[in-house]
Amino acid sequence: MLCNKRPDDMARINNEALANAFIDEQIKEIREQVGDKKVLLALSGGVDSSVVAALLIKAIGKQLVCVHVNHGLMRKGESEQVIEVFQNQLDANLIYVDATDRFLDKLAGVDEPEKKRKIIGGEFIEVFNEEACKLEGIEFLAQGTIYPDILESDGVKAHHNVGGLPEGMHFELVEPVRLLYKDEVRVVGKALGLPDDMVYRQPFPGPGLGVRCLGAITRDRLHALREADAILRDEFDKCGLAAKVWQYFIAVPDFKSVGVKDGKRYEGWPAIIRAVNTTDAMSATIEEIPYDVLHKITDRITAEVDGINRVLFDLTPKPIGTIEWE
Ligand code: XMP
Repeated sequence: MLCNKRPDDMARINNEALANAFIDEQIKEIREQVGDKKVLLALSGGVDSSVVAALLIKAIGKQLVCVHVNHGLMRKGESEQVIEVFQNQLDANLIYVDATDRFLDKLAGVDEPEKKRKIIGGEFIEVFNEEACKLEGIEFLAQGTIYPDILESDGVKAHHNVGGLPEGMHFELVEPVRLLYKDEVRVVGKALGLPDDMVYRQPFPGPGLGVRCLGAITRDRLHALREADAILRDEFDKCGLAAKVWQYFIAVPDFKSVGVKDGKRYEGWPAIIRAVNTTDAMSATIEEIPYDVLHKITDRITAEVDGINRVLFDLTPKPIGTIEWE
């Protein structure tokens, strides 16, 4: 039985030496637990699942089977990075599933936020289950559970979890970072050699851009959102805000306003910038963004992204606004 209580005297992993000691200890434990059996992991490309993947690759190599489900709601370049890092650089056993059409077809016309979340969570489990059924000899399921997930499993954030395992899936769990806090997972990821933009990645909701493409998702608006978000991230990287702001993204509502471009009427969606600081995501404050940065982002988004004709800045703290719009 895995221990789920962090020992009182466990040192906070905040340097490479401690991270390496943790990695060595986990490699030993994983090998003992798994033996020569196979382990399955849903690899989203987020910090936790990426660190678990890198740890398991070190411990058991090709006995680990990673499944990356691209639900079509990833940020720009994210699925490509998962393939580059895990398949090309770490030589992992990676199954890449492009399920974009399945997700977007199911979401077509659905505008109710909770319904959208349920569809995305349910479809994710279905796709993952289908892939698991194609594989033989899997006895273990690895998960990127971290300590706050255990502490918070009192239901407060139940709606945040993409979903549990389908009934009938009976795997023993492998959860090597379950006693670590997020900052420690990052230190371990760095020691494992994962790229900085993976290790220091900001939180990204399981339903992805699905909860930022507000209302009923359409492919053209989703595309505009993804491009605008990439510009925001690029500009935050360039001016140093990426390291200072906890979470930042674009949301695009499903209505248009009138604009003018090249002397002609140009109807488009607004892109809303959200940039918040928080320690626990239960409350959040608004980061001061210099006006020149806001102007630069506005100029780029309106010039480079088809369909966007205005850029707005959301000044609402949490509470009263949640961090995500849906
Ligand atoms: P809210 O919008 O509730 O978000 O203020 C708080 C934090 O949780 C993230 N979030 C999610 N994370 N699955 C996740 O894994 C979800 O469904 C989900 N919804 C919100 C949000 O991005 C923020 O960091």
